[in-house]
Amino acid sequence: MESSQDRVPETSDPEAFDIERIGEDVPLLEGMRTTRAIRRLRPDPVPPALIRKVCEAATFAPSGGNRQPWHFIAVTDAERRAWVAERYRKIFLRYIEPAVEAARAPGFPEAKRRMQRAAIHLAEHLHEVPVHLFVAGYQRRGEPQLQALFPAVQNLLLACRAVGLGASLTTLHRSFGAECDAHLGLPPEIPTCALIPIGWPLGRYGRPPRKPVDECLHWERFQG
Ligand SMILES: Cc1cc2nc3c(=O)[nH]c(=O)nc-3n(C[C@H](O)[C@H](O)[C@H](O)COP(=O)(O)O)c2cc1C
Repeated sequence: MESSQDRVPETSDPEAFDIERIGEDVPLLEGMRTTRAIRRLRPDPVPPALIRKVCEAATFAPSGGNRQPWHFIAVTDAERRAWVAERYRKIFLRYIEPAVEAARAPGFPEAKRRMQRAAIHLAEHLHEVPVHLFVAGYQRRGEPQLQALFPAVQNLLLACRAVGLGASLTTLHRSFGAECDAHLGLPPEIPTCALIPIGWPLGRYGRPPRKPVDECLHWERFQG
């Protein structure tokens, strides 16, 4: 089944979007099954109202005691994006090197090779991605409330899928987390947990490869 949002909008003209209606017609379960890491993105700008819409969807996530510790920092300024991208790229390319080496082996799964290429593409083009959306949250008892932030992150990814934006969840910026948080003007007690690069996808959505549910669903007791 294809909904209207399987098609990527042809234009990035903000006037062309009906922000109220866009994404509202994607069936929930179909949206979940077709939300995947979209790392190849166009550099065209994204209307701020659309970023606001996906962040609003994120705020409907659950959180312990309904404390809602999240903050969303949308970075669109080219210099500020370049600052993050330069650090991300250096660390990511070093991090992925052994995996790239392993992928040269004959018989290495092609799907994994594709994923590597897409992740490398993102690292090399992060400065061009129009929105760097950081998710941060205040700490509780000196600990980041990650359990409360990741449901919001997933809502955000689903909302991006619904409105036709490409997005992926990344955490690599945590390797330079304190420096990055300071760069974003965040105090130490509100650290970021995720960087979600958002833009219009170059490709299409589709079902990501996943193992069959019956391999991971157990009734009554774990069947090893
Ligand atoms: C906690 C977490 C951290 C991740 N960090 C990164 C990252 O730093 N860079 C990146 O390119 N992808 C990152 N990913 C994305 C995963 O690689 C991606 O979700 C996975 O390959 C499945 O992709 P698919 O949904 O397109 O199949 C992260 C995912 C999770 C859940």
